[in-house]
Amino acid sequence: MDQIIVEGGKRLAGEVVISGAKNAALPILASSLLTDGQNTYSNVPALKDIESILVLLSHLGSRIESNYPFIRIDAAGLNNYDAPYDLVRKMRASILVLGPLLARMKRAKVSLPGGCAIGARPINLHLKGLSLLGAEIELQHGYVEARADRLRGNEIFFDVSTVTGTENLMMAAVLAEGTTVLRNAAREPEVVALAEVLKKMGAKISGDGTSVVTIEGVPSLSPVSVSILPDRIEAGTFMIASALTGGNVVVKHCEPEHLGALIHKLRQTGAEIEIGRDRLTVCGADEIISVDVKTLPYPGFATDMQAQFMVLMCVANGQSVISETIFENRFIHVSELRRMGADITVSGNTAMVRGVPHMSGAPVMATDLRASASLILAGLVAHGQTEISRVYHLDRGYESIERKFAGLGAAIRRVRG
Ligand code: EPU
Repeated sequence: MDQIIVEGGKRLAGEVVISGAKNAALPILASSLLTDGQNTYSNVPALKDIESILVLLSHLGSRIESNYPFIRIDAAGLNNYDAPYDLVRKMRASILVLGPLLARMKRAKVSLPGGCAIGARPINLHLKGLSLLGAEIELQHGYVEARADRLRGNEIFFDVSTVTGTENLMMAAVLAEGTTVLRNAAREPEVVALAEVLKKMGAKISGDGTSVVTIEGVPSLSPVSVSILPDRIEAGTFMIASALTGGNVVVKHCEPEHLGALIHKLRQTGAEIEIGRDRLTVCGADEIISVDVKTLPYPGFATDMQAQFMVLMCVANGQSVISETIFENRFIHVSELRRMGADITVSGNTAMVRGVPHMSGAPVMATDLRASASLILAGLVAHGQTEISRVYHLDRGYESIERKFAGLGAAIRRVRG
């Protein structure tokens, strides 16, 4: 298995170009199932998770041509409605085929994704929403089996804001009869990006980006050609890296508007941030000031940035309280950061981080995608060498991460194993 080796102590400087957003690409590629012609996508990141959804779409009968960052998908030959365990267990977001399969094939059989390192991650709200649209749903032998001769619009209230839940329901409702209103819908930019793609296909959607999304069903949709928006979590990871190393990094090809909460917090830590149209320049301060952070649905501070921000607080002057309100087990990086000298105490969903003068390199293990990114960040400021194993977690969601960090002057390399 590959390892990533980081020698700490380098100040990052230069420019980094942000890739397309994994969490926008996944639902958008799944939405190709709603049309029976060729869809063309550009700015698709070359990631393990993208490969996983392509394998699944191809299993369902889609014809795929991939030449990253370009992908073509033609679902005219859709002839299968089951997403088997072997494919779904590799990536939970496979559940995103449930809504479109039901809309187009009137049937879907999708393996239940189960939990993952960061939490139980139920899909009850996806299922409740689909049954309100008229689907008959059965759970048996580890699979969700859903059927609906005709989906009918309805009013759906999400008990909690769910990103992929909102996306699945939007994709089911676009071809339903009548009007669907999603209340307490997720407002993440990736949800808006999907809504824009669906509208381009001919769907009638309004209110996307707010908590009330209205969808008027249409009889059919047409294929589209679209570009995937930049990855705000990748951009945020490089912004934190610059702040952490006292660096001067230009984060290019990003969408500053999607990074408001992080920009606000980083400025409070002392970092200087210049905002351009599609770029951000982040200059790290000599002394990092501790600030408190609470994760929230968008536009609040993203849970996907929590582990990386925690590393910044590990070497800040003072103490910081980090509250994780989205996932129940998203502090798994804490024990690895402690092994690198961090002073962190966890109580329930709150971590108290007391800044230390420096961290020290150590062999550590990646446990999930964003936790793995936090270990690279810790390695960048630690004294000595950090060896990160199980980096396949990183390859799921960060395109060429070691090449991008090396381009900014980090001493980082991948050892193939
Ligand atoms: N929830 C339920 N029932 C449901 C659905 C969600 O209780 O039916 C709860 C979850 O357990 C969680 C909360 O609602 O406590 C929010 O979960 P959400 O459904 O929004 O998460 P998701 O859609 O499964 C997406 C991203 C995650 C990101 C979260 C939160 C994709 C493919 N994944 O997951 O990204 O952390 O939203 O923003 O879009 C990552 O990229 O590393 C990643 C984990």
